[in-house]
Amino acid sequence: MAVLRMRYLGDPVLRVEAEEIDTIGDDLRALARDMFDTMYAEDGVGLAGPQVGVGRRIIVVDPREDGVQPLALINPEVVSESDEIDRAEEGCLSIPGLRELVDRRAAVVVEATDLEGEPVRLEAGGLLARILQHEIDHLDGVLFLDRVSPLKRKMLLKKWEKMQADAPKAGA
Ligand code: NI
Repeated sequence: MAVLRMRYLGDPVLRVEAEEIDTIGDDLRALARDMFDTMYAEDGVGLAGPQVGVGRRIIVVDPREDGVQPLALINPEVVSESDEIDRAEEGCLSIPGLRELVDRRAAVVVEATDLEGEPVRLEAGGLLARILQHEIDHLDGVLFLDRVSPLKRKMLLKKWEKMQADAPKAGA
């Protein structure tokens, strides 16, 4: 078990577009295991490479819902999405303490590769669809703060700055 060091808002790695992965081997499988350990230690439902300082296109997801297995996805991509929009409160392990309503596609189809190098196609709705969109955003350097109104963003950033002044996050 290895819990990796989290990266927080303000760390440049969160704003860089992550690189495509072309080799799937033991190193990557070990990284995925550590990412699961980190996600569970942080009590999260999803984690993307950049959040642990790895600028590569890998995410782990576990909505903790019946019938949904934990997933590790390599080079995940949204290949189709519903017109329907779902609005729900969202947070992020890299911006602890902030939550806000975020609009997401209600359903998405995601294609990726699994840890054995096999293609995966997922049709997701509900919480899983939301998590997948949030984590894939991380791979493009996008945070949920970018998906709220400028006014809301300003308020959230002000709150974050105040929280940092009171109890700074390492590396932030
Ligand atoms: Ni996040």
